[in-house]
Amino acid sequence: MKKIGIIGAGNMGSGIAQKTAQEGLSVVLVDVKPEFVEKGIATIRTTLNEAVERKIMKPEQAEATMARIRGTSDPAETGDCDLVIEAIFEDMDVKKDLFNRLDQVCGPKTILATNTSSFSVDELARATNRPDRFVGLHFFYHPAKNRLLEIIPGPMTSPETVSACRQFAQLTGKTDILVKDAPGFAVNRFFVPWLNEATRVLEEGIADIPTIEKAAMEGLGIGMGPFKLMNVTGIPIAHHSCEGLAAKLGAFYAPSARLKAQFESGELWPLDGDVDETAFERVSDRLLGAVFYVATSLLEEGVTDMTDIDLGAKVGLRWKEGPFEVMNRVGIEKAYAQVKNLLTAWPGLNLPVHLENQYQKKDPWDIRYVKYTRDGELGRVILSRPDAMNALNETVVKQLDEAFQEALADPKTRAIILEGAGKAFVAGADIGYFVKCIREKRLDDNYRFTEYGQSVFNRIDESEKPVVAKVDGLALGGGLELALAADIIVATPKAVMGFPETGIGIYPGLGGTQRTSRYIGKALAKYLIFTGRLMPADIALSIGLADYVFAPEEIDDKLRGLIAEGRPVPKKGKKDEELPPEFRQLKKLFEETPIEEWLEGRYLESDDPIAAKTAKIIAGKASLALRLADRIIDRGYDLPLKEGLREELAHLNEIFSTADALTGLTSVGKGRPVFEGK
Ligand code: NAI
Repeated sequence: MKKIGIIGAGNMGSGIAQKTAQEGLSVVLVDVKPEFVEKGIATIRTTLNEAVERKIMKPEQAEATMARIRGTSDPAETGDCDLVIEAIFEDMDVKKDLFNRLDQVCGPKTILATNTSSFSVDELARATNRPDRFVGLHFFYHPAKNRLLEIIPGPMTSPETVSACRQFAQLTGKTDILVKDAPGFAVNRFFVPWLNEATRVLEEGIADIPTIEKAAMEGLGIGMGPFKLMNVTGIPIAHHSCEGLAAKLGAFYAPSARLKAQFESGELWPLDGDVDETAFERVSDRLLGAVFYVATSLLEEGVTDMTDIDLGAKVGLRWKEGPFEVMNRVGIEKAYAQVKNLLTAWPGLNLPVHLENQYQKKDPWDIRYVKYTRDGELGRVILSRPDAMNALNETVVKQLDEAFQEALADPKTRAIILEGAGKAFVAGADIGYFVKCIREKRLDDNYRFTEYGQSVFNRIDESEKPVVAKVDGLALGGGLELALAADIIVATPKAVMGFPETGIGIYPGLGGTQRTSRYIGKALAKYLIFTGRLMPADIALSIGLADYVFAPEEIDDKLRGLIAEGRPVPKKGKKDEELPPEFRQLKKLFEETPIEEWLEGRYLESDDPIAAKTAKIIAGKASLALRLADRIIDRGYDLPLKEGLREELAHLNEIFSTADALTGLTSVGKGRPVFEGK
């Protein structure tokens, strides 16, 4: 996945081209006439200039992005692309003609993809002689900003094509979900009826627009209600989408008379007015009922799974929770009643069987945040909560344990890769959970969570099958501790590793004080833990914290190669002479300086810039956490690992009951905490 063709330089095509080029891939952007290509390129330039003005991008990055995009009106110029994405008018005949042409001009390796919102991927695939290398890639507006990508294989799409598309998603920073070729795919299938149901509630006089807006926003934890959203994204699009779904799925999906009238008037929805809170429940019942009905129908039809439906809502629509998470929050009985109530108006529709069964069981949905899949001999345990940077909480750790056991038990799996979906490997433990435990005086629960986490990490550490941590983003705190439990850490240049704990009043409790020192020595482990320094992949490699760094496009092949040679042997740890000079000096500094001297500010006024800078950073950390971390690293180092880990656990309640821990943990996302040493 190096060179990508994009056909159609309109709203979607120009955005896809921008994002693809921004992430370092070469782009050939095609439209029917040179002036249309120029227009698309001008749109990209304007968006990039805005990003530069807002300081989210450096001018040289914007220039480099533009330099990677070549415009043309000749589709034959995409002949040597790895992937060609079609984003032209939504017209079946025009699309078929185009794919027919592309099939002739593109080399045999090229994968053809359509960004259609409403046509069957299979029907388009049949317009080519390569249905195995044909796929749906459904982006969301604005495609340079919205991270969601629905990958839609047709019945003839090969697994290699799907995995190439997943690689494309990873390279371009997208969160992909795998969806069957069904009307509306996954997200629009429940999103569009949610909009439509809001207009029915209005039509039936249950509530007025301001009330529906407020009830909808509260119900889903979102910043914009359905009417404002339609005003922003286009009432014609909403109307057209309803008609498209209704043509294939029936009257429930058809636009309400009210929506049709508004579309025909050409006016926006009037949003102003007073809110009537007494109508909230009735509004919410109907809107959620529609979402729950469709989401459980998607399950029943096997379009995709719960995790991906929820992810689609959270990443693509920016809902705070996905439909299944919302059902678990309101309770399965209430969700069931809401759907039943909705369906009284639709006698022809059946209650989805999955919902009926779940209701009979009275259990919450078992949403999987950690998945196990196998790719040849490689088992993949994928932490899949990208909207929360894969943060570890009780559920995630339990599911990690289960997925790992599944991988161990799979006779076809020779080695296990731990990886994170989206931008992070694992950004740490769930801070909110810690805060809750402290506030509710449930430190024992916190202790049990950490003890269990340690036991899961130990099982990974002792696994009879080789384990590789594939770190392709943030691995902080608990995330780095998880990676250290694997045999080796293989990173990409996007990896960033570090231990931020002492900066938020605590110390690493999932093995960080023990495994780090065993790999890179006590002095550098102290340096990392005391300063919280964030280390990019190349630095982690240079000090022996990571074992390999590979480019994202080659990492999977390299992993297969490493595993083929047997159990990978860690290269961690470096001799003094192998360390970069800065770290040689830091190592010496930490060997020679006891913690109390750091706390007294011994080097604050030093002439040596490295010592002075380090002292300044340490002065901002929580002293109690630093002292405990220091003691635990020293004591644990000479013990067998398991005893060292017990030592780490032994001081957990002590640190979590300090005022500094609460100050630090509640400061996250708000600014630098000031610790009092209490
Ligand atoms: P658009 O109208 O903004 O752009 C379409 C572009 O394709 C135009 O510049 C047109 O000149 C060009 N074009 C038409 N026929 C062509 C051909 N044979 N060869 C080369 N270029 C050709 O449309 P938009 O909104 O970008 O939509 C494109 C596709 O993406 C549609 O299939 C649409 O359903 C789908 N889509 C749209 C979303 C949206 O929010 N707008 C979201 C997801 C998918």
